[in-house]
Amino acid sequence: MDFEKLKKMEDELERIAATYEIFQEDTRLNWSQAARVEFLTTVRYIEQYLKPGMRILDIGAGAGEYSIHFSRKKYHVDALELSAANIRAFRKKLTKEMNLTLIQGNAMDLSMYEDASFDIVLLFGPLYHLSREEDRRKCICEAKRVLKDTGTLFFSFISNDMVILTEFKYRKNFFIENSYDHDTFKVHDFPFVFFTLDQCRDMLKSAGIRVIGEVASDGVTELMQDEVNALDEISYAKYLDYHYYTCEKPEMLGRSNHLLFIGKK
Ligand SMILES: C[S@@+](CC[C@H](N)C(=O)[O-])C[C@H]1O[C@@H](n2cnc3c(N)ncnc32)[C@H](O)[C@@H]1O
Repeated sequence: MDFEKLKKMEDELERIAATYEIFQEDTRLNWSQAARVEFLTTVRYIEQYLKPGMRILDIGAGAGEYSIHFSRKKYHVDALELSAANIRAFRKKLTKEMNLTLIQGNAMDLSMYEDASFDIVLLFGPLYHLSREEDRRKCICEAKRVLKDTGTLFFSFISNDMVILTEFKYRKNFFIENSYDHDTFKVHDFPFVFFTLDQCRDMLKSAGIRVIGEVASDGVTELMQDEVNALDEISYAKYLDYHYYTCEKPEMLGRSNHLLFIGKK
C-alpha cells in the first residue's frame, strides 16, 4: 500500500483501515519523550473522572495504548477498532489477566453495546478520519448513546491551524505547496481530517454534547521535539509541569497539534 493507492480508494472505511498499513500506530504515543506528552496529558484528565469499578469504552482504540493502560489499572475496558493492522498490534499486547474485550468494528455503529452502559467513553481516532459531517455526527451520537447519564466523554481532534506549523517543520516548501487552501488555510483532509477549535466546539454542540473541558493535549511539543527528547529525567518532569500549567489556557488551545475535549450528555 502506498499513498497514491490510498488516495484512489473510494470506500472511506476501507481507506482508513488501509492507512494503518502505512502508518505505524503502535509506537505513535510512546516512541519518545515528546510523543509521550499527549498520552500523559490525556490520561491525567481521564483519571480525574475515574472511580474504581467504572467501565470504559475505547472507540477507535488503535494499537491499544489507552485501553491497555486502564486495563492494567484494573478497569474493565471494551475496545473497538476498525483497522486489522492495529488490531494485530493490539492483540499482541493482551494477557490473560487483562479485563479487556477487543472487537473489530465501526464507530458509527455501536449496536453491540447497550444504551447507557459505560462510565467513560473515549473517542480518540474516528474524528481524525471521518470526512463526512453526517458520519462524524453518527459516531458522536453513538458514543453519547452508550454513555451513562452520569458518565463522561472524551474526544480528540487534530487542529487545522497548528498542523500547518508542524507540517512546515518537516517540509520547508509547505507554504508554497498545494496541501492547503491558500485563501482559507484549510489543510486538505487526507489522510487525516483537521478542524479549527471553533469547528470542534460546534461539532460537539450540534450533537448535543455539553463541553466541560478543553485541553491542548500536546501543545507545541512536536515543534520542539528534539529539545524535549534531549531532556534528562528531571528536566522532562519540569517540562511536563509547565505543559500541564499551560494546557488549558486559551492561548495554548490555539497552538496544540491535538485537542482534547471533555463532555457530558
Ligand atoms: C490515530 S489512531 C488513534 C488510536 C488511539 N485511539 C490513540 O488515541 O492513540 C486513529 C484510530 O481510529 C481508528 N478509526 C478511524 N475511524 C474509525 C471508525 N469509523 N471506526 C473505528 N475505528 C476507527 C483508526 O483505525 C485508528 O486506529
